[in-house]
Amino acid sequence: MADWRGKKVFIMGGSAGIGRASALDFVRRGASVAIAARGQARIDETVAELQAAAGPGQRIAGFSVDVADAATVRAMAPQVLEALGGLDLLICNSGYAHAGALHEVPDDDFRRLMDVNYLGHVWTVRAFMEHFMAQRSGQIFLVSSMLGFMSVWGYGAYSASKYAIIGFAEALRQEMALFDVGVQVFYPPTTKTPGLEKENEDKPALSWAIESESGWNKTYEAEEVADAMRVAIERRKFHNVVGRDSWIIYTAARHLPGITHYLSDGELKKAAGKVASRS
Ligand SMILES: NC(=O)c1ccc[n+]([C@@H]2O[C@H](COP(=O)([O-])OP(=O)(O)OC[C@H]3O[C@@H](n4cnc5c(N)ncnc54)[C@H](OP(=O)(O)O)[C@@H]3O)[C@@H](O)[C@H]2O)c1
Repeated sequence: MADWRGKKVFIMGGSAGIGRASALDFVRRGASVAIAARGQARIDETVAELQAAAGPGQRIAGFSVDVADAATVRAMAPQVLEALGGLDLLICNSGYAHAGALHEVPDDDFRRLMDVNYLGHVWTVRAFMEHFMAQRSGQIFLVSSMLGFMSVWGYGAYSASKYAIIGFAEALRQEMALFDVGVQVFYPPTTKTPGLEKENEDKPALSWAIESESGWNKTYEAEEVADAMRVAIERRKFHNVVGRDSWIIYTAARHLPGITHYLSDGELKKAAGKVASRS
């Protein structure tokens, strides 16, 4: 187990859900932690919680920023480095999901999902890259989704933004390897968070029916996912999932794509039949 005492961690999207649980986990293990998000109220609440958990000498800070705004993210980076006294681990966790059939979702959904989920990670990484290159050590951890290596009905716009992260991360991994900086990607499963609650508010009936048809719809707690995230960071592998069920899905999607499509199309047809029989 890595010793996190004295380490400096920054989490973009650290004021709620998985990011907040992860911030608390690192503080409890002795790290200095800074978080960023948009909403000041949740930043203040989280910072107070982190301060209460911190010991002497641990630094805690919070920043308000929209990750889609490249200039603001770039301007924030030196303030984060100053507040923490450096940076060892950058976690790009900000993001959201919105479901809907591809012919129905508004054009702006495609743009905003790319701006926040994909470009948000790009702007954050680029704001800190030169720090890591000069330091010649550290880790960059990019949060994608299980829907960043496979997809289903209703999640095309979201999946595209999460797949894009992986392409970016593959090249980043090589560029940063020249500077001994690790790069990793993380595919969280369905996790109980404020983000999931929001996503569920207007989820299409067919998406709900697909989930109820699937034998693979376990919902994790944010703390479980944050724990798996830290273990993954300590192991330093490139691709990372949570739990045995996610590992089976990941392995099947990668090595048995035909069978994976066959099974998921079967679930889709049953779900569509269910929805049709209700209307
Ligand atoms: N929960 C799941 O089931 C699940 C599954 C797969 C992948 N994921 C991914 O895991 C990550 C965390 O998800 P979560 O469910 O924990 O989300 P969450 O509960 O909604 O928390 C998201 C965090 O990101 C921040 N954020 C959102 N949009 C932002 C923006 N434009 N600029 C800056 N910060 C922003 C939020 O604060 P503000 O809103 O105040 O900005 C919050 O701190 C996301 O990338 C998500 O796509 C989640």
